[in-house]
Amino acid sequence: QKIVSQAYLVDKGNHRHFMAKEIHEQPEVVGRTLAHYVDMANGRIALPEALPFDFAKLSRLSITACGTAFYAGLVAKYWFETIARLPVEIDVASETRYREPPLERDGLTLVISQSGETADTLASLRYAKAQGQHSLAVVNVPTSTIARECSVVMPTLAGPEIGVASTKAFSCQLTVLLCLAIAAGRARGTLDAARERALVDALITVPGLMAESVKLEAEVEVLSREIAKARDVLYLGRGTSYPMALEGALKLKEISYIHAEGYAAGELKHGPIALIDETVPVIVIAPHDAIFEKTVSNMQEVAARGGRIVLIGDAKGAADHGLDTLATLTMPDVDPVVAPIVYAVPVQLLAYHTAVFMGKDVDQPRNLAKSVTVE
Ligand code: AGP
Repeated sequence: QKIVSQAYLVDKGNHRHFMAKEIHEQPEVVGRTLAHYVDMANGRIALPEALPFDFAKLSRLSITACGTAFYAGLVAKYWFETIARLPVEIDVASETRYREPPLERDGLTLVISQSGETADTLASLRYAKAQGQHSLAVVNVPTSTIARECSVVMPTLAGPEIGVASTKAFSCQLTVLLCLAIAAGRARGTLDAARERALVDALITVPGLMAESVKLEAEVEVLSREIAKARDVLYLGRGTSYPMALEGALKLKEISYIHAEGYAAGELKHGPIALIDETVPVIVIAPHDAIFEKTVSNMQEVAARGGRIVLIGDAKGAADHGLDTLATLTMPDVDPVVAPIVYAVPVQLLAYHTAVFMGKDVDQPRNLAKSVTVE
């Protein structure tokens, strides 16, 4: 009921769907979220609220969430572990709540939720608190149940997200999570001021890069007509592009109803390569980072079996691989650390335009609710 009432507060502007509007709002709302966490004048993170725990005293961080929020957590695992050298254990909340993992007193559980009302995430939060854990919520609704029950709330400032498929909330979650990872690095002494400034400088480029990425929309719209013909689609990525492959597959399946799977590109030869033939588009998410060459070899494996590759990468990567592709979406050059936030745009646009072309109910896909408040 709350979501519906917000829908009346929010209009679609000149967009056909709330999802389109929310994809296009990302540069603005990510910029607004950044301003809430970054001391722009001094190029450092300034969290909006004091933490009731010390990142330096944590032996590990537990993350629990569902769906797209879980994929944001998976990206954050790479950031906390590489930037702050903080080991992360992460699971979907529907598993955490029944697996009942041993959690140390005074440890930290981080829950991520757009609505702040997801039943499994709330149950996992309550389990963690019963184990004596501190709890930190990254939520889009500060008045939500999860927000109220956490010891500290780090809000995403995405504004009401009406489309069932989460878009701007996801990119704002990533933004907050990267700010937290940088703050954790400073607290744990794994980050000097120069490195922190470099990371913050990369973060500050994100809204502009997202705005530039939205300009790919016309190309994506043409590509989506091809993807709409597929029965199965495979998304591949390495490093932080692996959770983006999972997110891209979720976006496509939940609004177009095409079966889509995300996989770690390095896993291709351990099974999924058997799926590949000319009927299966393979969406490869690969900014030109340190492991790009490894992903190129996976693309060669796909091409050798007649698979049709869509590369979502940058100009350098597009020039380097030398393979025929169904399409190449050439993204602006981005600092690899913030690539997952910027690359959310093309995967969202691809799912959106495919579903629109197929005449699906993009904002209210069948069988789905905006907030899963029951098990
Ligand atoms: C994402 O596009 C889906 N709508 C769904 O997976 C969602 O992310 C999940 O249900 C978690 O919702 P929450 O962020 O409100 O907890």
